[in-house]
Amino acid sequence: PVVRRIALVGLGSVGRALAVLVAERHEQIVAELGVDLRITGVMTRTLGLVDAADGLDLAELARGAASGGRPYDVREVGAWLEHSRADVLVEASVVDLDSGEPATGFLREALGRGIHGVTANKGPVVHAYRELTALADAHGVRFRFEAATADCLPIYNLYRESLPLDRPHRFRGMVNGTTTVILETIEAGGTYADGVAEAQRRGIAEADPSLDVDGHDAAVKVIAIANVLMGADLRLTDIAVTGIRDLDPVEARDAASAGTPIRLVAEIESVDGVVHARVAPERLDARDPFVRVGGDDLAVHFDGDLMPGITVVGHGLTPRETAYGVLSDIVGVLRGR
Ligand code: HSE
Repeated sequence: PVVRRIALVGLGSVGRALAVLVAERHEQIVAELGVDLRITGVMTRTLGLVDAADGLDLAELARGAASGGRPYDVREVGAWLEHSRADVLVEASVVDLDSGEPATGFLREALGRGIHGVTANKGPVVHAYRELTALADAHGVRFRFEAATADCLPIYNLYRESLPLDRPHRFRGMVNGTTTVILETIEAGGTYADGVAEAQRRGIAEADPSLDVDGHDAAVKVIAIANVLMGADLRLTDIAVTGIRDLDPVEARDAASAGTPIRLVAEIESVDGVVHARVAPERLDARDPFVRVGGDDLAVHFDGDLMPGITVVGHGLTPRETAYGVLSDIVGVLRGR
């Protein structure tokens, strides 16, 4: 097998889960791709810059540890990428959603050196999708971000691989798990704070859960879908966003008992080339398939011009499935797709 190397930014729940998957699937990747896949570089704020061209200890990385780190200095990222001899940079750090940094900068650094860039973050997609894609094209590599929107649910790969030429003109999705967990908790008699704590316990809430609650996370995801798949050029300020903070718990319980629960729904519509998006709580119709989408699930529905309607629902999602979305991108770029 040929050795292929990953340099990883961030060793939070997704980065650690990726180390677990790379170890667990090592033999399968050798057998199916002819690739000996290793993680040869890690960069985090606490560990600093770590690299070992032969591969870091995956069991250690899975615990969030690595030995031999040097102080974290962003000016050394290029040198760190060289030392790691990376073929793919995986970016899974904490990102400022309003700027997309520092993730976008790290991806720029990698793509400009002819290293594939894979991100688990939506920030770089929303702020720099066209720039990073052009940079990747100019250097003969790929910029991929399947896990940024809905863990391992195929969205971008669905249209790239399975539905070529199709152009979606309408989208509807439940793309934020935390708000579903909060609403389910309230429906079961708990409080809003109990719901936030439960989402944190499951490891799905953003570091600042108000980003989930106020619809910001869903808004960024919907912009990524609109800009990548529907040719839009939307910014955060272009879309109407209402979260679930002001929902009346009694109303939420009554709606759920009637079989028509309230859920945070993201929508996009393209009419005569003009794309509109919004995020808002919606009382679901009893026949809506989203009624059965629970707190560990995510769902997306597209209406396209070749495939009139397709719904993808992912069940039982955790950070491991986000890491699987990243791994699917890594496999894709290593296969030359
Ligand atoms: N905070 C997000 C959610 C997970 O609750 O769905 C990361 O995309």
